[in-house]
Amino acid sequence: MEHLIYPSVKFIHIISATLLFGTGLGSAFYMFMAYRSGNTKVMAATNRFVVIADFIFTAPTVIIQLVTGLYLLNYLGLEWTSPWSLSVLGLYAFVGACWLPVVWLQIWLRNRAQELDHPDAQYRYRMKIWMILGLLAFPAVVLLYVFMIYKPFWG
Ligand code: HEM
Repeated sequence: MEHLIYPSVKFIHIISATLLFGTGLGSAFYMFMAYRSGNTKVMAATNRFVVIADFIFTAPTVIIQLVTGLYLLNYLGLEWTSPWSLSVLGLYAFVGACWLPVVWLQIWLRNRAQELDHPDAQYRYRMKIWMILGLLAFPAVVLLYVFMIYKPFWG
């Protein structure tokens, strides 16, 4: 039975990565398309679902990713101060630093869309920041996949 622990943790790690990436990209797509529609009712409803998706999927997978990742690292006997580990943890922290203000922005955009007939200058400005943060986090997550699969600086 013990030989199943490692692949099972890795299985959870990969399913969680899929959910994290897929839900993030999907949510961003629908929220952007709702914004492009110009209809604040569509924006209000979509932003509401995106905020819920972030709490149901993204928040737990962010934690699961770190916990299972550290387990895999430990099992493989790789120091958390190794170049590979530090690169991965740095990228992970960078993605987290982009994501936290995104959560706050999405809550703000959800609330504001309910009150507006048309997106005002402040709404458009915060959508722009939301987009920039997403565009910064996306390549960092792709790079994380590269680190996971090609294992550069592994040792
Ligand atoms: C939070 C820090 C993370 C740590 C410490 C970590 C650690 C690890 C380790 C040690 C492995 C190697 C398992 C093996 O070769 O048997 C692994 C595999 C993997 N990780 Fe992570 N991980 C982290 C975050 C992530 C993130 C954010 C993603 C993607 C969104 C991800 C996706 C994957 C995938 C797809 C694999 C499978 C690669 C393979 O089997 O070749 N990991 N992870």
